[in-house]
Amino acid sequence: MSDASSTTSSSRRAQPPLESSRAPLRLDESALEAAKQGLEQGPVTPSYGPWRDDIVQLLNDALATELVCILRYKRHHYTATGLASPAIAEEFMVHAQEETQHADQLAQRIVQLGGEPDFSPDSLTRRSHADYDESSDLQAMLRANLVAERVAIEAYSQMIRLIGDKDSTTRRVLEGILSQEQEHANELSDWLST
Ligand SMILES: [Fe+2]
Ligand SMILES: [Fe+2]
Repeated sequence: MSDASSTTSSSRRAQPPLESSRAPLRLDESALEAAKQGLEQGPVTPSYGPWRDDIVQLLNDALATELVCILRYKRHHYTATGLASPAIAEEFMVHAQEETQHADQLAQRIVQLGGEPDFSPDSLTRRSHADYDESSDLQAMLRANLVAERVAIEAYSQMIRLIGDKDSTTRRVLEGILSQEQEHANELSDWLST
C-alpha cells in the first residue's frame, strides 16, 4: 500500500481521495420500512417521487393518441381502394391491432400507478397528439399515417427523456412502444416510395 501511495503522481494526488468519492452501495433501510405503509398505493412506494400525477397525465395523453390512431387505421383499412389496396389495407389493420396493444399497455400502467385511464370519447381528438384522418386515396392515407407515426415517435421520445430514471418500468413500456412506432413509420415510408 505504501508503495502505491509513494508512486502516485502529483496530478493524481490532486483528485479527491478514493474513499470519499465512492459512496457505499447500501439500501436505504428507512425506505424499506416506509414501503410497509400505504398499501392502498399498490406498487407505488413512498420513494417513487413526486412525479406520479405528471407521468399518469403523460400516459393518458399517449393513450388518447393510440385510440385515435386505432380509429384512423380502421377507417383506412375499410375504405382503402385501388390496385395496391388489399396489401396496404391489410397493413393498416395490422397497425390498428398493434396500436390496440399499445393502448392496453398504457392503460395497464396507468392503473398500476394508481391513476385512471381516460377512454372518454368526447375529448379524444383534443387530447391526442396525432390527428384522425378521412382521406379517400391511398397516397393521402399513407401520408396521414406517416405524419401521425412521426408525431407519436417524437412524443414517445420526449416522454422517455422526461421520465429518465424516475420510473424505469414506465420507461421500458414506452421504449417498447417507440420501437414499434418506428417500424410502422418505416413500413409506411416504404409504401410511399413504391
Ligand atoms: Fe402505437
Ligand atoms: Fe404506430
